[in-house]
Amino acid sequence: MRVLVTGGAGFVGSHTVVELVAAGHDVHVVENFCNSERWIVERIERLTGQSLSLDELDIRDREAMRSSMHRFRPDAVIHFAALKSVSESTQQPASYYDVNVTGTATLLEVMREVECRQIVFSSSATVYGQPEACPVAEGARVDPGNPYGRTKLVGEWMIRDCASVPGAVLSAAILRYFNPVGAHPSGLIGELPRGVPNNLAPYITQTALGLRDHIRVFGDDYATPDGTGVRDYIHVVDLAKAHVAALTLLSAGEARALTLNLGTGRGYSVLELIETFSAVVGKPIPYVVQGRRAGDIGECWADPTLANTVLGWQAEKTLEEICADAWRWQQACVSAAE
Ligand code: NAD
Ligand code: WQD
Repeated sequence: MRVLVTGGAGFVGSHTVVELVAAGHDVHVVENFCNSERWIVERIERLTGQSLSLDELDIRDREAMRSSMHRFRPDAVIHFAALKSVSESTQQPASYYDVNVTGTATLLEVMREVECRQIVFSSSATVYGQPEACPVAEGARVDPGNPYGRTKLVGEWMIRDCASVPGAVLSAAILRYFNPVGAHPSGLIGELPRGVPNNLAPYITQTALGLRDHIRVFGDDYATPDGTGVRDYIHVVDLAKAHVAALTLLSAGEARALTLNLGTGRGYSVLELIETFSAVVGKPIPYVVQGRRAGDIGECWADPTLANTVLGWQAEKTLEEICADAWRWQQACVSAAE
């Protein structure tokens, strides 16, 4: 298939492009590099063994999107491009609505113009907010507790509305990721947080490398087995493969607007993640318990049964593989910077 990937140089996008090419798809990336590096493109090319077709543009630029889509004529779009920091979204909510909502609306309009009829959308478990129970299934109440999460929910609504137009030709897979972590086993691509990482996994690897003094554990008084927050950490390569499976499902014409959780179905605590990383790194990684982070929830892990069933996919990589791959990538990042 001809697949246009927005945000294809980002963390999840870059791994997905590699899997798409490996599966024989013809890929074109649109990207403005606001949260990724141009050298990632060369890394993708090394992994795929072919040059990457790319337009540097902003998804909100309708004319640029038109021109790109008219030239490439995609059968499907995988839409990653978005701003993704929960904390930043509370400081700059309008920017988040602009990129994540206006950007998605522009994309949907241009897709209609070029008669592109399939979309895979990056949503997030953050749309559930504080889950009433775990594991969380797709039918659970949605109640995002921050502007970022609300922009993702609006994106979902827009896509479902477009797929519900009488006689509509759009079909969609709305993928709610839990906590994407890890990196490509080659060590060539991975997550590239700018500044102090918001997320736990890159904070741990930066601390293990000595770039940070200690990990700040945000709260040990949750109603979880060891008191620290529990999440469903999914390897980014498993996540990438789910996108390829979602495209196959859409192209078979078997979905109209399907919402799927992408997680492992298993939760690990902050301390369990630190312990597993410590074992991989071969030394204890220092941490200090602090108070809870504002807006955090105690536990959230997925019921991935629907994705397992309809996509014929499941997350395969272990927490040890996640940590080993993330650690390899972290070390390679520093040697690249030296
Ligand atoms: P990322 O920031 O690494 O990748 C997003 C890419 O989109 C970046 O390369 C960025 O430069 C690009 N981009 C942003 N705004 C753009 C614009 N206006 N025009 C063109 N390109 C633009 O993020 P990621 O972790 O790869 O996340 C991908 C998607 O998955 C996002 O939609 C995010 O909301 C969603 N998601 C991420 C996580 C996570 O923890 N990583 C969890 C759930 C959902
Ligand atoms: C995981 C656990 C923290 C950092 C976020 C977004 C979500 C999604 C994924 C995009 C929690 C604890 C963290 C630290 C810590 N992104 N922690 N010290 O909050 O589950 O999800 O990323 O869609 O929308 O909210 O992930 O990695 O920040 O936190 O103790 O320095 O680690 O309290 O229990 P989170 P996270």
